[in-house]
Amino acid sequence: MGLLIKNGEIITASSRFVADIWCEDEKVTRIDKNLGAPAGAQVIDATGKYVFPGFIDPHTHIYLPFMGTYGKDDYESGTIAALCGGTTTIFDLAIMARDGEPQDALDLWHSKAEGIACCDYSFHMGVTRWDEDLADKLEKIAQSGVKSFKIFLGYKGALGVEDDELFNILKLAKKLNVLVTAHCENAAMIEQRQKELLAEGKTGPEWHEPSRPELVEVAGTRHFCDMAELTGARIYVVHLSCEGALRAAMEAKLRGVNVTIETLLVYLLLDKTYAERPNFEGAKYVMSPPLRDKRNQDILWAGIKNRLISTLGTDHAPFDTQQKKMGKDNFAQIPNGIPSVEDRVRLFYTQGVASGRVDLHTFVDLCSTQVAKTFGLFPRKGTVQVGADADLVVYDPAYRGTISASTHHMNIDYSAFEGREVIGRCDAVSVRGKVQVIDGEFVGKKGHGKFLAR
Ligand code: URP
Ligand code: ZN
Ligand code: ZN
Repeated sequence: MGLLIKNGEIITASSRFVADIWCEDEKVTRIDKNLGAPAGAQVIDATGKYVFPGFIDPHTHIYLPFMGTYGKDDYESGTIAALCGGTTTIFDLAIMARDGEPQDALDLWHSKAEGIACCDYSFHMGVTRWDEDLADKLEKIAQSGVKSFKIFLGYKGALGVEDDELFNILKLAKKLNVLVTAHCENAAMIEQRQKELLAEGKTGPEWHEPSRPELVEVAGTRHFCDMAELTGARIYVVHLSCEGALRAAMEAKLRGVNVTIETLLVYLLLDKTYAERPNFEGAKYVMSPPLRDKRNQDILWAGIKNRLISTLGTDHAPFDTQQKKMGKDNFAQIPNGIPSVEDRVRLFYTQGVASGRVDLHTFVDLCSTQVAKTFGLFPRKGTVQVGADADLVVYDPAYRGTISASTHHMNIDYSAFEGREVIGRCDAVSVRGKVQVIDGEFVGKKGHGKFLAR
């Protein structure tokens, strides 16, 4: 049975036109006017609606062992939430323990996702140490289709790598032509600031940001770029939050460093005052790098508009209010993360496109096309064209709704965007031609999601 989407306005990163889309055997096979529906075909009327390529989240943590606990989503709840929000592919982090083996970690993440995930998925391989033995092991992993590594320059003593390790990982990545993504903060600065603040009795969530101020991220970003310059590796800065870090990356670009930049929905819409909310409410907004001074938001929007910033992720990291209490006497023990995998498309559409900050093409480019291009999935994913996977989002811009934990699909008891009004809804979402969402609700097949080797 094929799928026919009729009369929608198809929006890609570079074009817009009204046409019908015929999907068969998981692919888009025809785009034309007035296509007829063969007997048995599923037909969706998209008149007056947009048809976007499936959105791709470059940065999620669905299965997440972190800071002594586990994220609350699994591959069922996390990918259903992604789909209801219009995301048809996620990039999750499969991360080795510092004393563990990368292949074991990858096998574990595959076992968590396979047969359960409802949208397509790929992995970044989290590398947490270096020894010579790792070269062959990581080469094998890259050959299995995991063509991006992730390293942490924050989180000292846990996930973070030292400089000699960083150098060798980047050199290997250069040899293998693998993209290296990094969490950029200076770990030693954080450690010292945390000690200093805690010794002064400053223990609440409002002290998280002062413990990792903007210059900590600037130092981490600059350092990552410098090491890339030395080794010639291609790099990608994840969750960039502030002007200084953007400037550091741009300076590196001008020196010839091949650096791509991701920012997050939360940095565009939330600021550090959220983490200052009383009665430990602020803990819900603790993540790293932290939410920043509001003045950074205009700069990030400008960076998006001018495409200095290439991709928009969520860094979905779902810890509930109970788990956040692990840090009630010490902000450094609050599990870091803000859940938002379901919210990215609707809120970016609302605050970006509908408010006139960015155009529809920039929206598609940032949330889908550039992610596919950067991570080696284009044109299979990231656009609407004959031969591409039939990952399609029928979006109704006339719909008006409100974000709430009481209606979202993430397995988490709060929403960082509670009460925010949204313009539009994902009326229908298909993954490789299978309709997984109707009227914003999951109606599809569990386990339909596939691992994407790149
Ligand atoms: O606070 C965050 N960002 N939590 C998730 C882990 C990470 O650093 O990406
Ligand atoms: Zn991070
Ligand atoms: Zn992350």
